[in-house]
Amino acid sequence: MRPVILLCLLLAIGCDAAIDQFPANDVYALTLAHSRDVRTELAQRDVAEVIRSLFGTPESPVWPSEIFDGEAKSLVKSESLTAAAGPIFSDREGNNFGLFNKHCVACHGVSGSGAGPAAVFQNPYPRDFQAGVFKWKSTERSAKPTRDDLVGLLHRGVKGTGMPSFALVSEADVSALTDYLVYLSVRGEAERKLLAFAIDELGYDDSEDDSSEFLIEDADVHQIVGEIVESWLDASKRGVPVPKEVASNTDSIARGKDLFHGQIANCVGCHGPGGNGAAVTLDFDDWAKEYSSRIGLTPTNRDAMKPFRQAGALRPRQIKPRQLNQGVLRGAGDGKAIYRQISQGIAGTPMPSLTITKQESATGLTSDQVWDLVHYVQSLGSQPGDTLP
Ligand code: HEC
Ligand code: HEC
Repeated sequence: MRPVILLCLLLAIGCDAAIDQFPANDVYALTLAHSRDVRTELAQRDVAEVIRSLFGTPESPVWPSEIFDGEAKSLVKSESLTAAAGPIFSDREGNNFGLFNKHCVACHGVSGSGAGPAAVFQNPYPRDFQAGVFKWKSTERSAKPTRDDLVGLLHRGVKGTGMPSFALVSEADVSALTDYLVYLSVRGEAERKLLAFAIDELGYDDSEDDSSEFLIEDADVHQIVGEIVESWLDASKRGVPVPKEVASNTDSIARGKDLFHGQIANCVGCHGPGGNGAAVTLDFDDWAKEYSSRIGLTPTNRDAMKPFRQAGALRPRQIKPRQLNQGVLRGAGDGKAIYRQISQGIAGTPMPSLTITKQESATGLTSDQVWDLVHYVQSLGSQPGDTLP
């Protein structure tokens, strides 16, 4: 069967299947069980109940505004959840419903785990929103994306990956989808953090086998969920300022070329000479490392990965540094976006951040030098590589 037809088939299955509960994050639970050498069933049972009572179900999702103060109450609008969740239909006024099922679920999955039915075919895999880490944004590496970052992302898609552009979807629907993805991310991150908290702090691991004691207190739940929501509200204050651009000319490009191949930036170590992708790197992204190398397992070892695969994890796939001479950038692709990527690195991936210094030094680069690198990267993209499709 042609992959396209198969994908459509899977999309159709993804759309029709009504699921009454969000699937639990069994992969993360297994990661905790493995790294702490503890049982997690009881903690999972109680965390599932807390999360369900706060955030509802895929058919009727809830934003728990009563536990928040101020801006957090309206970070996600309940009308958006109504429009994005549940079955796909349009009412007489032309309002669309079931938007997430229609546009996203086949790849990102019901809970936003990134392991939807069409995920296995893709490289990179669709994002797991539950870890709360995003790559293509204007904010500091450790910060959440801004709302504008997400709306821009949905408009553009991610070039060179399975993530399509939703430029033809109405502004109102994109806004609802954006709220829904924030909702899924907050919900998923809350589930993860609560599970780790229950296991590490509440003594669930040594509970009796049949213990029915419920150990999670509201105050702890509110604190954990509150901090996650705060990180989303904070994003707009954590934008990376981009200093004035130096003139883009052949001198700047030549300086950028030296820096790219030099000791301090050492871009060549990953991206290869001239960004040709010829450097040999064997690395994985943070989403895959979490259930492999970070807990002492080899990502390429099929036996070691088997229990995680059975719990729903995707097979770890190597991440390749971008072949820059092909000119296909996945982020916003303009000078400012490349400046931010070079200075902050790319969250969730091995692409590192740089130290920005006031004066030229042996330990970091000045903002002018980062601009030189930007110009060099841009010059590479305008000379198409020989393997351009
Ligand atoms: C055909 C598969 C597919 C569909 C459909 C899809 N995505 Fe994606 N999405 C991806 C892939 C693949 C990535 C990872 C791209 C990367 O790592 O650069 C991704 C990444 C993302 C990201 C993370 C961007 C970042 O900065 O890290 C967000 C947010 C996202 N998708 C939202 C959505 C939403 C919302 C929808 C529905 C409107 C959707 N996606 C539909 C495949 C898909
Ligand atoms: C440790 C390895 C490593 C080093 C060092 C590194 N990169 Fe990267 N870079 C990566 C990886 C991996 C990606 C792909 C990230 C992804 O798409 O998920 C990437 C992606 C990029 C991109 C693509 C961004 C986009 O929008 O698609 C640019 C541009 C880039 N790197 C430039 C640089 C420059 C300039 C340097 C030197 C200052 C550098 N990189 C150093 C690993 C590295």
